[in-house]
Amino acid sequence: MSGFIEIHEPGDPTLVMLHGTGGDERQMLDFGKRLSKRTGYLSLRGKEPEMGVNRWFRRFGEGVFDEPNLLMRADELASHLVEKLPTERRVAVGFSNGANIAAAVMLLRPEALHGALLMAPMVPFQPDTLPDLDGKPILMICGEQDPIVPRTNAMALASMFETAGADLNLHWHSGGHNPGPTELNIAAAWIAKQL
Ligand code: MLT
Repeated sequence: MSGFIEIHEPGDPTLVMLHGTGGDERQMLDFGKRLSKRTGYLSLRGKEPEMGVNRWFRRFGEGVFDEPNLLMRADELASHLVEKLPTERRVAVGFSNGANIAAAVMLLRPEALHGALLMAPMVPFQPDTLPDLDGKPILMICGEQDPIVPRTNAMALASMFETAGADLNLHWHSGGHNPGPTELNIAAAWIAKQL
């Protein structure tokens, strides 16, 4: 019993939709359908509310994460995905806090994800050893003016993925934390390539 609040529309691959702080599974499902109409969707709600808004893991401040909680939640999510979608290709689509939990799953339990589209991600934790990501497709979309994620932090995450062997695509845009319309087109094209 995972206890996740979620919306599941089956298909292969299945986009695993992971909202940002304050989002929810309904909003993220709608977003997924703007990116692709030809996949399945599993849109979930994070289990660590912060002052009434949904999050995936606890934090002490902006960008300062409660690592034991983060690792526990990433492991829990990974197990749920493998159980719920045993045969489908599981492709995470995460924004902000949702991108960070997806990055954590990729680093901690890489077998749980076949690929990931990460919008405004940052390093979720420093693994002792990098996993073998063995050509897994990852798209990172990052903002040059992001007030939450410094460029050096996004670059450090990109470097981890590349060193671990992922098929990394790193896209920088001139904006801040939120991707713009051009980035949504890039994201949709990347998903189309995973079909
Ligand atoms: C996080 O807490 O995961 C990041 O700082 C992004 C956010 O503000 O949600």
